[in-house]
Amino acid sequence: MTMIEVSALGLAFGASRVLNDVNLQIEAGESFGLVGESGSGKTTVLRCLAGQFTHWTGSARIAGHALGHKRDRARCREVQMVFQDPYGSLHPRHTVHAALAEPLHIHGIGDQSERIDGILAKVGLNGSFRFRYPHQLSGGQRQRVAIARALILEPRLLLLDEPTSALDVSVQAEILNLLADLRERDGLTYLMVTHDLGVVAHLCDRLAVMQQGRIVETLSTDALCRGEARHAYTRTLVDATRHHGREVGEDAVA
Ligand SMILES: Nc1ncnc2c1ncn2[C@@H]1O[C@H](COP(=O)(O)OP(=O)(O)OP(=O)(O)O)[C@@H](O)[C@H]1O
Ligand SMILES: [Mg+2]
Repeated sequence: MTMIEVSALGLAFGASRVLNDVNLQIEAGESFGLVGESGSGKTTVLRCLAGQFTHWTGSARIAGHALGHKRDRARCREVQMVFQDPYGSLHPRHTVHAALAEPLHIHGIGDQSERIDGILAKVGLNGSFRFRYPHQLSGGQRQRVAIARALILEPRLLLLDEPTSALDVSVQAEILNLLADLRERDGLTYLMVTHDLGVVAHLCDRLAVMQQGRIVETLSTDALCRGEARHAYTRTLVDATRHHGREVGEDAVA
């Protein structure tokens, strides 16, 4: 089954055109990376798919359902987003319990305590974390809570926007391993923005490269690791990664 099918997606803010003829096809169960320079439109693509921007043109289908121009509850349950900064995405005065109960409440789902304990266990946190506030958590723990919040409605698709780039290097691998485990266990589909080709090599099957609101290249991670990127910009990215002392394809996660 195709999980994401985007064709000729376009978006402008006033006179500034931010997305141009973006085409993407991502299969169910696939983990797909989206890379590209700052401002190239990666987050904007995720926000369109998450229903946060609605004035796009073109067409998009998620799990076969056409994406409308209005927020829609059914899609909320199917698609969730995880942001770069877990501090910003959690309300500072809400406990972990409140953060996790809110989506259940909105969707009229019962058994809240059981579900909350279950999802916390899934992300590697014990029940005592329910009563903590975000400032009482480490960065890694906060991102675990943000992932739990994204997963509590049991979506099939996660849109991940640089989910580890705000974390200490030592914690990044932990969170990447958690994401890989969760995907395998629940058969999730990931569309993940990252700047780190090492992360792509570890976690993604395929990737697309964006530049100035367009996708300039789509290739498999295997092809990337074999040095088969064709577009000049993609090769620049690969070289930049090598420059930082890590080979693409080298395991980013111990
Ligand atoms: N709400 C908005 N109003 C106006 N312009 C916006 C808005 N959101 C994004 N843009 C513009 O759209 C372009 C793409 O932004 P986007 O956040 O998608 O880039 P990105 O690829 O995610 O960059 P980064 O790697 O820095 O996160 C940028 O030029 C940005 O200024
Ligand atoms: Mg972004």
